[in-house]
Amino acid sequence: MTHNNGEKITIPFIIGDGIGGDIWNGTRRVLEHSINLAYSGTRTVEWMEIAAGEKAFQEKGDYLPAESIAELKKHKAAIKGPLTTPVGGGYASLNVTLRKELDLYSCVRPVQWFPGLPSPLTHPEDVDVVIFRENTEDLYAGIEFPADTEENETLLALLRSNFPDAYSRFRYQQEVGIDLKPISKQASQRIMYAAMRWAVQNQRKKVSIIHKGNIMKYTEGAFRNWAYEAAERDFRDLCYTKRTWKKTAQKKGKEEADLEKASALKRGLVFVDDLIADNAFAKAIANPADFDVVVTTNLNGDYLSDAFAALVGGIGVSPGANINYEQGWGLFEANHGSAEDIAGQDKANPSSLILSGAMMFDFLEWHEAAALIRRGLEKTIRSGNVTFDLHTQLPGSSLVSTSQFSTLVIDNME
Ligand code: NAI
Repeated sequence: MTHNNGEKITIPFIIGDGIGGDIWNGTRRVLEHSINLAYSGTRTVEWMEIAAGEKAFQEKGDYLPAESIAELKKHKAAIKGPLTTPVGGGYASLNVTLRKELDLYSCVRPVQWFPGLPSPLTHPEDVDVVIFRENTEDLYAGIEFPADTEENETLLALLRSNFPDAYSRFRYQQEVGIDLKPISKQASQRIMYAAMRWAVQNQRKKVSIIHKGNIMKYTEGAFRNWAYEAAERDFRDLCYTKRTWKKTAQKKGKEEADLEKASALKRGLVFVDDLIADNAFAKAIANPADFDVVVTTNLNGDYLSDAFAALVGGIGVSPGANINYEQGWGLFEANHGSAEDIAGQDKANPSSLILSGAMMFDFLEWHEAAALIRRGLEKTIRSGNVTFDLHTQLPGSSLVSTSQFSTLVIDNME
């Protein structure tokens, strides 16, 4: 699918709604400069605009034209600004639709502290986690039955007649909304596989499966079991799991299990454990150093990635990617929304999109350009030049606009 013409690659981009234009202008300059600096013209990018969002609706009468999706499928990597979810009946979230259409099952969100970023933690440098969020199932692909509708009544009647015990667990059986969520073995295991492979390739030490299996046994609990199974089957010689520890402890006692674990970790094996979601949230704040790579279901991942991001500067800074590793394509995007309240004012923080661009270059194996982007951004933040969202949290910092910030990132690459 790559349109990689020797050293020239075509990268589609979606500007996005709201602040999309503000942050894309700066990001594009940063990305281009990093390539020029890293490769002196031997590698170049041709940018290709893809219609989506408000702009597409105004021009083509469609928020997400079919040809936009078809074009994205022809390319290995694409980058996008935020898209507003159209308000009013009948429109699904454009972001969710894109993920579904391209089967972008891995949402990858690295969260890391850069010196100079505001943080409520005493040791923000402890935050260095990469979240693999399953992107295709859970309540995002759920079936919803609003209260007092015909579908809802039909489902309640079915439960009443076929599953009376289950039905009797509903405290109120009228005016009750219902959501059903699917979690499958296939989706659980492919996200686990992606997380494990990434952890092994990047010499990470631990993968934590986060779930709410104590309450949702057959979805979240099954996710946990299937994830362990995938690790133990596909990474048998490369990981040591908490399940294995438990089995050994039962058979031979805890001391023996601890020795087995210590020996495995000494040999560089990845430790795989699991945590219930509420515990994971508490630990994320109290002891973030405990997390390395996280793999989780869609909704948990949504909450957890914003919670981690809030520890180190917020959603304006943390990047994200949506990837299908088997198809070999990825859509790299800002994690935040379209922030209409500050749109068009040249004040939004472009860091999330800039760092997503660095992730994209890493994905394309243009690591030198990615490293320059990160260096430029880190130096800029460390120098105390920040956009308004960080300025309010950082006494003594200098307030800069979106475009000034982007220019400083460029200047600081050298
Ligand atoms: P939002 O992220 O747009 O805004 C939340 C708050 O964060 C606002 O106060 C905003 O000003 C601030 N903010 C966001 N990005 C910022 C940045 N780069 N620099 C400085 N401040 C920033 O979330 P909201 O209001 O819930 O969503 C607005 C729209 O965006 C909705 O239609 C939503 O569906 C969509 N959305 C799209 C996403 C995507 O394209 N991946 C992700 C999240 C939301």
